[in-house]
Amino acid sequence: MKRTHNCGELKLSNVNQEVILQGWIKKIRKMGQIAFIDLRDFYGITQIVVSENKQELIANLKPEYVVAIKGKVIERKSKNLEISTGEIEIDVIDLELVNKSELTPFVIENEVEVSEETRMSYRYLDLRRQKIQENIVLRAKVNSIIRREFEADSFIEVETPYFGKSTPEGARDFLVPSRLNKNAFYALPQSPQLYKQLLMISGFDKYYQIVRCFRDEDLRNDRQPEFTQLDMEMSFASAFEVQDQIEKVIKKIFLEVKGIDFKEKLIKMPFKEAIDLYGSDKPDIRFDLKLNSLNDIFANTQIKLFEGFKENNLSIRGICVEELLSKKQLEILTETAKQKNFNNLAFAKYESGTWSGSIASSLSDSEKEKLIEKFNIKDKATILLNVGKYEKISDMLGSVRNKVAEILNLTDPNDYKLLWIIDFPLYEWSEEENRYVAAHNPFTMPNIKSIEDFETNKENAIADSYDLVLNGFELGSGGVRITDSEIQQRMFEAVGLDDKTIEQNFGWFINAYKYGAPRHAGFAFGIDRVIMLLTHSESIRDVIAFPKNSKGIDMMNDAPSFVEDKQLNELNIKTIK
Ligand code: AMO
Repeated sequence: MKRTHNCGELKLSNVNQEVILQGWIKKIRKMGQIAFIDLRDFYGITQIVVSENKQELIANLKPEYVVAIKGKVIERKSKNLEISTGEIEIDVIDLELVNKSELTPFVIENEVEVSEETRMSYRYLDLRRQKIQENIVLRAKVNSIIRREFEADSFIEVETPYFGKSTPEGARDFLVPSRLNKNAFYALPQSPQLYKQLLMISGFDKYYQIVRCFRDEDLRNDRQPEFTQLDMEMSFASAFEVQDQIEKVIKKIFLEVKGIDFKEKLIKMPFKEAIDLYGSDKPDIRFDLKLNSLNDIFANTQIKLFEGFKENNLSIRGICVEELLSKKQLEILTETAKQKNFNNLAFAKYESGTWSGSIASSLSDSEKEKLIEKFNIKDKATILLNVGKYEKISDMLGSVRNKVAEILNLTDPNDYKLLWIIDFPLYEWSEEENRYVAAHNPFTMPNIKSIEDFETNKENAIADSYDLVLNGFELGSGGVRITDSEIQQRMFEAVGLDDKTIEQNFGWFINAYKYGAPRHAGFAFGIDRVIMLLTHSESIRDVIAFPKNSKGIDMMNDAPSFVEDKQLNELNIKTIK
């Protein structure tokens, strides 16, 4: 039987037609002498009626069997307007069993009560679920919008190699041994960064690519070892032009996918301000709850916890929740503080003139008054505060702020707040290496304000780099690149790369800049993350057809796996057992 229609398209206008559908049996329900089948394919579900005299056709059918059904379209008595085919059903004439199915390890429904491990081990069945299919379809749609928009603006998609050279900056590389070049390894690209810069030197003017990137880092809900970026770079362009281009495309995605029209230009918030107000460089600005410095209020305090904070160069910072938090809620928030290496989270509750809480008994009258004024407290509030190094206390309170929003339900998942974070620090301190390393990468241009002294004033040096942030997630980053070899040399020295390391790792790349490079800047955003947020998925695993688990394992085939000694011998590799 050759199918004439799919399971999502038949309507009242098809009534009386004879049709052939093919699909999976979702459900069979017997009602007295007749039976109903929900037949499912990629496009939808169609109800099939099996009359009394056709019962032998379905005698041995079970869920997930694949069947072809010939029948007549009839109008349904009780209509189901929730599905596209809900006004009709098919009165079966003939049925052919196409393929049987074993009992599936879980029922193919949107909401399944089964461990993620089982779902991932049978991902091809998991992918039969409508909800996951919709995510994958939306992903294809977003990719298509991206391609359409970039092409309309004359960007050229250029594919760059997956077998590249390992470089010492950034995350850990995945390595691929070379059989033809014994003892040598390719590295899978963490991003096409260097290649796209070379394309600018080659004169391609405007490049983009939807590209797979590979990073060997610890995995989280928003991280996978292989993920996809929209990567782009523009010649003769400033940071603003790059931001405008990205803003245009991301707004188009929201308009077409969500019907949300961002009319205003996105806010551009300096990194420093983001840390100061939100304790994060990816602030969720759907809710207020800003961080405050309380050093002035507690300048002469009797509170033991804060003693000597000024001499020790520490900051007292806090947030104020306009509610009386319960003991349980405070415990959860304290746990968040502990995860950020703070022993505790101090708090003071205020209700109609009365103070309580861990620091309440030591609060002076003037401190109480100033707190009420500072936080504009009306009748009740809980102030959460602590003391520490400015960066650390801000970071901790930033997490507490997010946790407060979570437990008090302060955010609406359908509210999307996009913003730019700009003026990032040029360096970040690496505890592991005990030195400053390039915050973005060592090819990012220092901001004009730091150009004179970026090697000596590392603590304050800022970069011409920018991030796009959505509801507390970093969607992407970019920057203006160094195109001046003298500045590049100074930058390498500043991050402690000696001439030999530079030559060995980047010599090929640096050379290219000797032959006339245009000024250029670019950006990349994580497509998986964008789709995760658009679909309200808890993990990017739900928007990737075949993802890895949190240990980087493909649960279907157990990759990565051991290989034959013969294969290793060919590669001149011995493993330590
Ligand atoms: P960056 O390293 O910030 O910049 O990466 C850009 C974006 O890629 C996404 N991303 C990830 N998504 C899923 N899993 C991961 N492991 C992962 N790592 C990163 C994030 C992130 O914001 N070459 C530069 C961009 C540039 O300067 O043009 C780059 O790769 O959404």
